[in-house]
Amino acid sequence: MPGTRFILNNNLEETGIHPSTTLLDYIRYEANLKGTKIGCREGDCGACTVLIGEPGDNGVRYISATSCLTPLANAAGRHVVTVEGLELSGMNKVQSAMVENSGTQCGFCTPGFVVSLCGFAIQATKIDGPEDVIGSVDGNICRCTGYKSIERACHDIWNSLQHKDTHKPLEWLAENGFIPPYFLKIPDRLKQIQPQARQENGLPIAGGTDLYVQKHDDIDDIPLHYLKTRPTDPPIIVEGRKVHFSGICTVTDMLENRFLSENIAGWYGFMKLVSSTPIRNIATVGGNLVNASPIGDLTIILLALDATIELTSPSGIRILHLKEFYKGYKTLDKQPDEIISKVSFDLPEGTRFNFEKVCKRTYLDIASVNTAISIQKQGKKIISAHCSAGGIGPVPTYLHATSEFLSGKEVSVRVIREAAEVIESEISPISDVRGSAEYKRDLLKNLFKGHFLSLFPEILTMEELV
Ligand SMILES: Cc1cc2nc3c(=O)[nH]c(=O)nc-3n(C[C@H](O)[C@H](O)[C@H](O)COP(=O)(O)OP(=O)(O)OC[C@H]3O[C@@H](n4cnc5c(N)ncnc54)[C@H](O)[C@@H]3O)c2cc1C
Ligand code: FES
Ligand code: FES
Repeated sequence: MPGTRFILNNNLEETGIHPSTTLLDYIRYEANLKGTKIGCREGDCGACTVLIGEPGDNGVRYISATSCLTPLANAAGRHVVTVEGLELSGMNKVQSAMVENSGTQCGFCTPGFVVSLCGFAIQATKIDGPEDVIGSVDGNICRCTGYKSIERACHDIWNSLQHKDTHKPLEWLAENGFIPPYFLKIPDRLKQIQPQARQENGLPIAGGTDLYVQKHDDIDDIPLHYLKTRPTDPPIIVEGRKVHFSGICTVTDMLENRFLSENIAGWYGFMKLVSSTPIRNIATVGGNLVNASPIGDLTIILLALDATIELTSPSGIRILHLKEFYKGYKTLDKQPDEIISKVSFDLPEGTRFNFEKVCKRTYLDIASVNTAISIQKQGKKIISAHCSAGGIGPVPTYLHATSEFLSGKEVSVRVIREAAEVIESEISPISDVRGSAEYKRDLLKNLFKGHFLSLFPEILTMEELV
């Protein structure tokens, strides 16, 4: 098995340690860097956050990532940065802001916050306000400070970044005390360590954010096919009005895509509802579809966009509609050796799309019920509609009867009320920790009406509909 070569802070690492070892364990127990902390090991607390720098056409792109859910293999050919790798002779700008605002008490969470905030400082090209800086620590939890002091530190960081030179970001950040100067040499050093090819059979693993949580104790015994270690197409290709995601396209790739933001009102906000920044940075669309969670957010969104998936295996390529992929609870129309290589959908001019997600807290939570809709219309008439819902049955559900019912109808209060009754007939929620069956049924019907209030404010009012 080929070893894993990458740069850890300022050092070249070459290791034969098993590639499924988590990056967290490698950092703490092999590299002996103890600044990166172990909290939950499930992606929830952010104590283990590191930066991963990936070489690309426009230099190295740094993302924050939960090292507890990242296989060592995904570090190959990249620059991994822990809190130790951000040290200057004194504190860096982010560390100073945290200390000056009492943003640290016991200190357990602090390395994770510092790494996330430095990642933001490196990558940000446009910072509208302090809330953007605060948003970058949406995956970091602190049980001591109450967050207000950390928010004040974020305000200071925002002020310090006002004059960032986005043409020469690394130079500016090094000169202004955010990162150590060795970062400037990383792009050239990474060119020397192209990742080696790995085995192409075994259970596919992309981001690892699902697999490491589900199979944490067994993962060393499972042969894995590391999808992120070979060069692939760009994560998103837009041809006319057709959008193609590669199987390893991440939620962040989608969130940052300009075509999607320009053509789907609210797209950025919808993507922000998926997990947290360090999870979005590594979680992929292929993983979301195959994990087959009945409440997978990307799955519900793509069902309503009437997406197709391309499955590639040594026997060839198959293309099928996503709505035909789910056959029963965690049962898929997929052979073990098939990989989701592409996910595609059309976005005709004038498409109206909406996504709703209800959870116990707004961010970093899975849905009780989620639902999406896309509509093509001419005047008041709906030409075609695609509706989907999660949390109301054993699989992520395309609402066939409701979608069909809406096609050809005019948008009106009566039609929407009737369509909500059709929904009732094609769902089978069960009571669980996220709510009773009755609650989920009522919730979905109200969210469905909410879709129309968001999409057709010129035609409908809340008073009429609810
Ligand atoms: C803290 C936390 C918060 C989360 N929040 C959300 C949330 O808000 N919304 C949400 O929808 N999900 C959420 N998730 C679930 C998870 O992050 C997503 O489902 C993610 O998209 C999985 O992608 P991955 O690349 O990490 O999958 P992996 O863990 O790498 O793989 C998941 C499964 O898919 C298979 N697989 C992966 N890629 C492919 C492929 N291309 N072809 C065939 N099979 C493949 C793997 O074999 C495995 O069975 C959360 C997870 C965590 C840990
Ligand atoms: S240890 Fe909690 S997110 Fe990794
Ligand atoms: S300072 Fe103690 S957990 Fe944040």
